[in-house]
Amino acid sequence: MTGLNNKRLLLGISGGIAAYKSAFLARLLVKAGAQVRVVMTQGAQAFVQPLTFQALTGNPVHTGLLDPEAEAGMGHIELARWADLIMIAPTTADLMARLATGQAGDLLTTLCLASKAPVHLAPAMNQAMWQHPATQRNTHLLEELGYTIIPPAEGEQACGDVGAGRLPEPEALFNWVESFFQTNQPKLTKKLGEGLRITITAGPTQEPLDPVRYLSNHSSGKMGYALAAAAAELGTEVQLISGPVNLTVPAGVNCTQVITAEQMLEACEKLRSTTDIFIACAAVADYRAEAVADQKLKKQANQDELVLKLVKNPDILATMAKATDNKQQPRPFCVGFAAETQQVEDYAQNKLINKNLDAIVANDVSDSSIGFGSDQNRVILFTRSGKQINRDPLPLNSKQALGQQLMLKLLAFYKEQQIL
Ligand code: PMT
Repeated sequence: MTGLNNKRLLLGISGGIAAYKSAFLARLLVKAGAQVRVVMTQGAQAFVQPLTFQALTGNPVHTGLLDPEAEAGMGHIELARWADLIMIAPTTADLMARLATGQAGDLLTTLCLASKAPVHLAPAMNQAMWQHPATQRNTHLLEELGYTIIPPAEGEQACGDVGAGRLPEPEALFNWVESFFQTNQPKLTKKLGEGLRITITAGPTQEPLDPVRYLSNHSSGKMGYALAAAAAELGTEVQLISGPVNLTVPAGVNCTQVITAEQMLEACEKLRSTTDIFIACAAVADYRAEAVADQKLKKQANQDELVLKLVKNPDILATMAKATDNKQQPRPFCVGFAAETQQVEDYAQNKLINKNLDAIVANDVSDSSIGFGSDQNRVILFTRSGKQINRDPLPLNSKQALGQQLMLKLLAFYKEQQIL
């Protein structure tokens, strides 16, 4: 039995070359025990035959709004009420525009208006179409209307272009559905974090060289903020210690803004005694300038090289994870991230041990579509129980969905360790 058992999923398909991927998605969903009903636009039927989906789901495929035969079976209002989740994959630019303006000219758009179920859209189109201001405006409008947009994947497109606009792979869409039901499920899960205090670091640090320059990295803060949002949704009290990023602080999260590693350490240490779980997702600069110039460093005509002397920054995570004899005030349960470009799993496990952590999330940042700045990620969670290390790969997913999965797993592991 899986988390999708008997969940009712209405899979909408609009006309794009990626429609074939939805057949694989339908198969995965049915295999996981979900009840799947498919609605195809006219355009979608030009790419894949409805019969394919009928055979895969065991249900008739819905194609028309004014089809008396279909209405006699399960009418469109009944279908709208039936769904626990509507996912439209692929969603064309045209369908996005029609949904954004509340049109109901065909069965799929009508269902979206008539249903109270959440509607998740997986846009798929040529990269220039995706970037077009009209599509971007429709994306924002749809989000304001309550639709959830699944970020399109990047890469080579059917038309030969390269960029964002691909439909994510069926496995990634399946994971998305699975994590939707995981996090929107039970009152029980909502309570999972109640009474717990979590401190999360996110984003980069900036280490000044002079009043106008600094050393930093490409962390956008998206992963850390997604974790903070998920932790708050699960009922925990969240303190986010954030480096400089352009993100909105999630609802229910207290945020302290910092710039440098030393400031981040100070903010974390202040919270040490009131933190049950500490998660270090920030990309902290390992080194800072030994001396910060008071005035802007000037380019010298006779100097082709400039040598900067750097000194080591404190390791925030290792400091928080340091063992303590004080039984009244034990160290927090500590979770690190390991951003690696090679030997990812080995290095991550070394950090797990060397920094005295309970868990670590290994992040392969050699792949630019995951890790720094991206909307998606794929990680491996290592948890440590005494001498035993468990390995739990989490496949490609949006950072939001991954944040939710990680938080559920970390809370469950934390509770298990408290009992042991
Ligand atoms: O912010 P995004 O754009 O969404 O990207 C997410 C991410 C790639 C930044 C994130 O997933 C990630 O991997 N974060 C950890 C980045 C990192 O600095 O890794 P590290 O392997 O260098 O450090 C190991 C651990 O020690 C990390 O938990 C880090 O926060 C911590 N650390 C490192 C140095 C230091 N001086 N103090 C620390 O606390």
